Amino acid sequence: MKPDVLLMGQFFEPKQRELEERYRVHRYWEAADKAALLASLAERCEVIVTTGGRGVENEVMQALPQLRLVSCFAVGVDAVDVEWARARNIAVTNTPEVLTEDVADMALALLLATIRRIPYGDRFVREGQWLKGSMALTSSLQGKRVGILGLGRIGSAIAQRCLGFNTVLGYSDPFPKADVGYEYFADPVELATWADVLIAACPGGPATKGLVSRAVLTALGPQGVFVNIARGSVVDEPALTELLGSGALGRAGLDVFADEPRVPSALLALENVVLQPHQASATVPTRTAMGQIVLDNVAAYFAGKPLITQV
Ligand code: GLV
Repeated sequence: MKPDVLLMGQFFEPKQRELEERYRVHRYWEAADKAALLASLAERCEVIVTTGGRGVENEVMQALPQLRLVSCFAVGVDAVDVEWARARNIAVTNTPEVLTEDVADMALALLLATIRRIPYGDRFVREGQWLKGSMALTSSLQGKRVGILGLGRIGSAIAQRCLGFNTVLGYSDPFPKADVGYEYFADPVELATWADVLIAACPGGPATKGLVSRAVLTALGPQGVFVNIARGSVVDEPALTELLGSGALGRAGLDVFADEPRVPSALLALENVVLQPHQASATVPTRTAMGQIVLDNVAAYFAGKPLITQV
């Protein structure tokens, strides 16, 4: 008989189909009686597959005493309590590296779209406003100071791209990185004070919750641009909305939000913001590769082999 897998939510459809062909997959989100489903799986379900946004509650893991693996379709596993799982001998895997370049591309796309007002220009042409006169001039990315919050794989890939746009780089991270020539700021407020542009590229979770605080955004200032491809939780979203609305912060390009897919209506109403529906890794090649890593980790587990990308 095929081994059981509990699937918390839908992920990239072709790879989900492969998972459902190989295993006896139980769709948690479709179960009318979730407690009954968990009870029926308690003695035999060793694997959960989930997405970055969905994660899995400790109560669900707790209800499956045989659980040994949570395979997550995301690089960020902040929606899974990894420490809690580790203490119970449950491994958590993610999908690093394969998404780095696409996520970094999105950071630059949002940055340019925000500074050069690309969505506004698109509407300007479509709505026939160009026929009545030219669009207003915009700011420029050239020569700007870009501060990267979190210089991991994705932050480093963003930095590499920024150099191609003639920017000056600084970063903040818990510790300075060896062999990195960009200016280091221990304190995110200092980084934001120095920077014209602040890009959040750090992991989510309790350690970075609210790291982009009101003080950081205020330090970035009325000409400042904030880009977030990390997690909504890393920024004080009410403060962000308020400061953008009052002009105390210049512009923002946002791919992630505190309560996805709900975006505060006050943020939706702002003209100085470019929004994306958490799309940074959402390309066909990257989602294919991410799905393959999810499958490979599950296969490795059932084959008794080492996991590929254990967190
Ligand atoms: C996407 O947000 C991811 O963590 O992979």
